[in-house]
Amino acid sequence: MMAELPTPLPERRPRRLRSHPKLRDLVRENRLTVDDLVYPLFIYHGENVRREIGSMPGQYQLSLDRLPEAIAEVQSLGIPGVILFGIPDSKDATGSGACDDGGIVQEATRLIKRLAPELLVIIDVCFCEYTDHGHCGPLSDHGGRIDVDNDATLPLLAEQAVSHARAGADIVAPSGMMDGMIRAIRHGLDRAGFNGLPILSYAAKFASGYYGPFRDAAESTPSFGDRRTYQMDPANGDEAMREVAIDLDEGADMVMVKPALAYMDIVRRVKERFGVPTAVYNVSGEYAMIKAAARNGWIDERRVVLETLTGFKRAGADIIITYHALDVARWLHQD
Ligand code: PBG
Ligand code: ZN
Repeated sequence: MMAELPTPLPERRPRRLRSHPKLRDLVRENRLTVDDLVYPLFIYHGENVRREIGSMPGQYQLSLDRLPEAIAEVQSLGIPGVILFGIPDSKDATGSGACDDGGIVQEATRLIKRLAPELLVIIDVCFCEYTDHGHCGPLSDHGGRIDVDNDATLPLLAEQAVSHARAGADIVAPSGMMDGMIRAIRHGLDRAGFNGLPILSYAAKFASGYYGPFRDAAESTPSFGDRRTYQMDPANGDEAMREVAIDLDEGADMVMVKPALAYMDIVRRVKERFGVPTAVYNVSGEYAMIKAAARNGWIDERRVVLETLTGFKRAGADIIITYHALDVARWLHQD
């Protein structure tokens, strides 16, 4: 004869709050909205270019004449902002095309501000798309080791940012991880009369394998070496806090963590420690992974994308820069 084991019944029942869909809505802690999204655009030189990027299905290199259709779509979906990357027709050692008032991104900015004045135009401020060697600033010889010349890059960054400001940019987003870049840009903008223009710093940008598809899109792969002397070591979290502290001290208004998925802990720590508007960049390789799996029928794209982006919000992100923005906006408008 078996004695019946006395099984204590649970006193705490979290499942009560999951029992009804409306109840789940009521207690939901984080909500992804269209207002959280920023959509990246690749502006290509030439005419009538709308070339799909092989490693980023659904994303295109667009020439200026093909930009209006993309902007109309962004606008009709109610997405608040775009971030622009330019692919110029010619490159040189210092990336001088980036500072040209008639440069491709400056032209795109003027066009967008004309077509959609209320759309926020964010400009990635860096040199890697404009240098013939693909690094994020001019190079110099450091005792036989060729590396980006940090201090020579600073005035050029200020010059580039001012040029974008003149073209009508709403936010500048320096992405090169140069020491002192925020102070240099803030000073340059202020002197040129743009003291009201906010800076979104790519403050904690890691040297990541997830940028691969972007470099196809932006044609910005370094011709030698890698970016490990300026972008951060993926193993470091405390250092990311120091980077953010420095950039805020130098005058950054908002900070970014990039990439997103492998760095959710950094997003959480930045948000908790500094309490400033925090952006996360859901980068090209992250997009490519989801697209590839979805195309194979291995995952439900909509479900996985919404889950991933909601995860960024839960981690503390206020702003999500993502290639999924158009799809997400469509999905959110459907529900
Ligand atoms: C360049 C820059 C990069 C991205 C945005 N600006 C990558 C790089 O270091 O080459 C990456 C974006 C992405 O992968 O989606 N400073
Ligand atoms: Zn760069």
